[in-house]
Amino acid sequence: MTRIQSSLEGLVAAFQERFGAPPTHLSRAPGRVNLIGEHTDYNGLPVLPVALQREARLAFRPRTDGMVVLHDVDDEFEPIEFEVAPGIPPGEPGHWSNYVKGPANELARRYAIWQGFDGLLESNIPVAAGLSSSSAIVTAVGLALAEVNEVHVEERSFAELLADSEQFTGTRGGGMDHAISMGGRPSCAAKITFGPLRIRHQQIPADWCFIVADTGRRAEKSGAVQNLYNMRRTECEEAFSFVVEEVVRSNLVQMIPTDYASLMRAMSVKDLLRVAEGVLKSNLLRRFRHVVTEAARVDEAIDRMRAADVMGFGTLMDASHASLRSDFLVSTVELDELVAIAREGGAAGARLTGAGLGGCIVALTDRSTLDLVLEALVEQYYLPRRLAMRLDERLFLAAPSPGASVEAL
Ligand code: GLA
Repeated sequence: MTRIQSSLEGLVAAFQERFGAPPTHLSRAPGRVNLIGEHTDYNGLPVLPVALQREARLAFRPRTDGMVVLHDVDDEFEPIEFEVAPGIPPGEPGHWSNYVKGPANELARRYAIWQGFDGLLESNIPVAAGLSSSSAIVTAVGLALAEVNEVHVEERSFAELLADSEQFTGTRGGGMDHAISMGGRPSCAAKITFGPLRIRHQQIPADWCFIVADTGRRAEKSGAVQNLYNMRRTECEEAFSFVVEEVVRSNLVQMIPTDYASLMRAMSVKDLLRVAEGVLKSNLLRRFRHVVTEAARVDEAIDRMRAADVMGFGTLMDASHASLRSDFLVSTVELDELVAIAREGGAAGARLTGAGLGGCIVALTDRSTLDLVLEALVEQYYLPRRLAMRLDERLFLAAPSPGASVEAL
């Protein structure tokens, strides 16, 4: 886990010490917590995340050649060095350098960039916890490369470019993480839709608190979890083709749906599930059911948020968790336990957040029940497991924050 330990002056001084000259710029990119809409983004369906107060920060200085030389303040991450060009060879699967090479490769491919930088990175986003620590690195690095090479791309297109660039790591992720890291806004959740990317901000009611609680079990999206994640995506694609084949064969639609979004515009969830039950085998049916019901929950959740209906929003979070556990099969004993403790402690709702299979839950409470829920989590989960040291890294309130930026120092 890397943590922002230094002030900006500290980061600048550490840079100077390593590279013998001060940095000229700083890029910063936040992590995120997804409130609802899980495993929908890569199916072209909406999500509702918020950008977090936790972020990756990159101090950098352009070089006169094409090398990227990047250090992390945390020695756990070994320094990396490579030349910016299309066709950069990937590092070993799961190696953090791939999150740096990915955006370099994509920017070189699209814009023939050639200039590198010296950089020093730090981050206080828990690693492999479902809070998008890796996409924050991709975003901070992408912004640094765009800056030194004078590439100017509109925010949403840049977020799409970053999502494409993360495919370099071998995980076939969706576009949520980069979109919210670029487009976060204080006090707001963001409804993000895809193809084309759109972000609509929704003010969060002032007395709603979203608690983020880490199981302490890592979910390495570029490691052990990668295969399962990619497999889920393939299963969703297969389920989609079988259902479309059937709705076309039975003349249930006028135009052939090309993606989940157009399929859901053409038919109700109820009708879609009826068709799916007839044509899909058990595991594909479950994946399909999760995807379409989850997408519907995102729209309902936004209505509940607009109406400041905390219990209504919480109930949808509970339903999302149940679906991720029983239909998408990405929960774990620890995630289920944290969710149960939060609910019994008085939360309006709770669910796993991010890809699952480890990482964090997010729980919703109003201010009056916040302390009770926090206390229940500490006493029933963190203390018995001896995870209460440095507790503020594992258990904190989401403070919806602004999106990424790059500035001259
Ligand atoms: C990971 C991916 C996202 C999204 C979530 C699941 O965090 O990076 O694109 O698919 O899993 O919702």
